[in-house]
Formats: sequence, structure tokens, C-alpha cells
Amino acid sequence: MQGAAPVVKIENVTKRYGSLEVLKGISFDVAPGEAVVLLGPSGCGKSTLLRCVNGLEKINGGKISVGGIDVGSASPKEMLRIRLSTGFVFQQFNLFPHMTVLDNLTIAPRKLLGIDRREANETAHDLLKRVGIPEKANVYPSTLSGGQRQRVAIARALAMKPNLMLFDEPTSALDPEMREEVLNVIRSLKEVDNIAMIVVTHEIGFGRDVADHAILMDSGHIAESGSASDVFRNPQSERAKKFLKSIINA
Ligand SMILES: Nc1ncnc2c1ncn2[C@@H]1O[C@H](COP(=O)(O)OP(=O)(O)OP(=O)(O)O)[C@@H](O)[C@H]1O
Ligand SMILES: [Mg+2]
Repeated sequence: MQGAAPVVKIENVTKRYGSLEVLKGISFDVAPGEAVVLLGPSGCGKSTLLRCVNGLEKINGGKISVGGIDVGSASPKEMLRIRLSTGFVFQQFNLFPHMTVLDNLTIAPRKLLGIDRREANETAHDLLKRVGIPEKANVYPSTLSGGQRQRVAIARALAMKPNLMLFDEPTSALDPEMREEVLNVIRSLKEVDNIAMIVVTHEIGFGRDVADHAILMDSGHIAESGSASDVFRNPQSERAKKFLKSIINA
């Protein structure tokens, strides 16, 4: 979709916590349907950047636009629009423990989008089929495996029909087999639904084979940025070569 307005536009963003400068001038765009992988060592600012995109943290300089709305100067109504159209999936699944899977999936569409219970339930059942656990609608999250919980978390985000998904290390708390199940779901969001996404992950296969663009952050800067297959197969900077070696050997 070359030429289409970006879903996310990040321009020279800086972010400080007290005297700690976490983001030191980050710029990149996410085009419609594009999957951007964000890599980098612990503490380099990946989670902070995602939180800034979603308006959970305020930036100190530069500009972030989501769907053409400037996050920094968005009205409460515009901010709500950004939040409702952006799915955020974390390392820890953050499901509501006192609600069944079905209720986890339907509460936001019903309360925030005003969708009636029957339609919300129908969509939820479809989404559970989609993520491979149709039989789990009526159980509580505590009875699910980690991979199943993460698939519910993704289905819950999808129930809001997002046009942007933010994933913060969605598989790092999972065993290898479960990681694959979750990665397949994320892959299908890209390949079937064409949802734009920023994925913080060190999953090499996903980065190399599914993502369009890869960005390596280091100490608040972008150390390397390029097509995902280039960055993963043929990194240019010494920093990227060293980092990729470290995750391959991990
Ligand atoms: N709310 C906060 N208050 C103060 N410092 C913070 C806060 N959140 C993050 N930081 C600091 O900002 C830096 C970047 O943190 P961030 O969580 O974005 O890193 P990360 O790249 O996601 O790391 P990891 O790979 O370990 O998840 C770290 O030094 C962290 O301690
Ligand atoms: Mg993080």
C-alpha cells in the first residue's frame, strides 16, 4: 500500500523519566497492513515506545500520530478513538481473572462499542475458533495454559476490530510449542486480516519470514532499520550483527 497514509507516524520522539533519557529521537512509520518488528537489548526503550504510541506515556519531544491523530494533543474523544482501534497484547496476558473467556471477549465490545450481547457472543465464538480454542468459551482464564491465555488475549483485542496491534514480547513467557501457536495467530493477522502491527519480539523466524520491516533500537536510538529480511539475514551495522548473534545463541 505504498503512498497510503501511515497508520502510525513517529517523528523524532524523545522521552525522559526524570534525568533518564529513554528515547533519544526515534522516527519511523507503519503503513497500512505493515508488520514492524522492534528489537533491542533489555532497557533500550521498546516497551516505553509502545506505551507512548498508545498514549499511556507522554512524550517529551517530537510527535506521534495514530490514524492521523496527534496523540500528544488528542482530545479525550480522539484519545478514546485511538485506544478503541488499537489492540495491545503484553507478555503477561492481563485477562480478567474473575470473568469467563467469553466475558473477557465481550465486555469491551458491549460496554464501549454498544454491541448487543448476542452479536458480541457470536463474534467471540468466531474469534475463539479463529485462535483454535472454540471449546474454551465458558472456562476461567486460570484453567488455561499460557499459550491459550495469550490466544484469548489476542482474540479479546480482535473483538474490538482494531486497525493497529501492538505486541510487547507476546511469546517470551511461553514454552516453545505454545510460542508457535501464538506466532501462527499473529502471522494470520498480518497475512489474512492485513492489520498493521508493531511487534516487540526476539523471535527470529517471525522477524525474518513474517515482518516487513525491522528496527533495532539501542540505548534510545535506532541502530539499524530496514526490510526485515535484510536486517535478519544480512545486518549492516556492527551493533545489529552483534545483537542478532546474541539472540541466535540465546
Ligand atoms: N515508569 C517508569 N519510570 C522510570 N523509569 C522507567 C519507567 N518505565 C521504564 N523506565 C526505564 O526506561 C528504560 C526503558 O525501559 P523499557 O521498559 O522501555 O525497556 P525495554 O526495551 O522494553 O526492555 P525489556 O526488553 O527488558 O522489556 C529502562 O531503563 C527502565 O528502567
Ligand atoms: Mg519491554
